Amino acid sequence: MQELTKAINNHLSFEFQASHTYLAMSIWLRESDFCGFSYYMQEKSLEERTHADKLIEYLVDSDEQVELPNIDAPQRSWISIQTLFDDVYEMEQAVTASVNRSYSIAEKSGERSATAMLDWFISEQLKEEAEARFVRKRLRLAGKNNAALLILDQQFLDGKGLSALKASFGRK
Ligand SMILES: [Fe+2]
Ligand SMILES: [Fe+2]
Repeated sequence: MQELTKAINNHLSFEFQASHTYLAMSIWLRESDFCGFSYYMQEKSLEERTHADKLIEYLVDSDEQVELPNIDAPQRSWISIQTLFDDVYEMEQAVTASVNRSYSIAEKSGERSATAMLDWFISEQLKEEAEARFVRKRLRLAGKNNAALLILDQQFLDGKGLSALKASFGRK
C-alpha cells in the first residue's frame, strides 16, 4: 500500500498543478481579451480541484495519509493562444501518464478500491485529451484570422465551444 499511497499523492500534485496552470492561463487569456477562453480555463481550473478532492477523499477513506504538494508558479504568458493550447494538450498527456502509473501500481498490489477509483480518472483523461485536441485543431483552422478567433471565443463564452465535439458522439 505504501507505494500506491505515494503514487496517489504524487498524482494529487499533478491535479493541483493542472488547476494552478489553468488559472494562470485564464488570467493571461483575460489580459489578452479572450474572455470566452478565459472563462473556459477558469472552469477547468475549478474542475481540476474537484479531481484533487476525489483523490483526497479516497486517501482519507482508505486511512492513508494525504500529502498536500508544493505547487510551482506556472508560466504566466504565452506567444499565442495556439501555443497555450499546445501546452494544455501536453499537460493533459502528462496527467494521463501519471494516472496510468498509479493504475499499474494499484493493479500490481491487487488494490481493487484503488483501481475502481482510478477507473473514473482513466475515462476522464480520454475525454480531456480529446477535448484538448479538438480545441487545438479549431485554433489551427482559425490561424491568425481575428474574426474566426473572436467567433470561437464567443462560443466558449456562451458555453458552446465544445458543442461540435459533444454532438458528434452524444457526449454530455
Ligand atoms: Fe484532472
Ligand atoms: Fe485535466
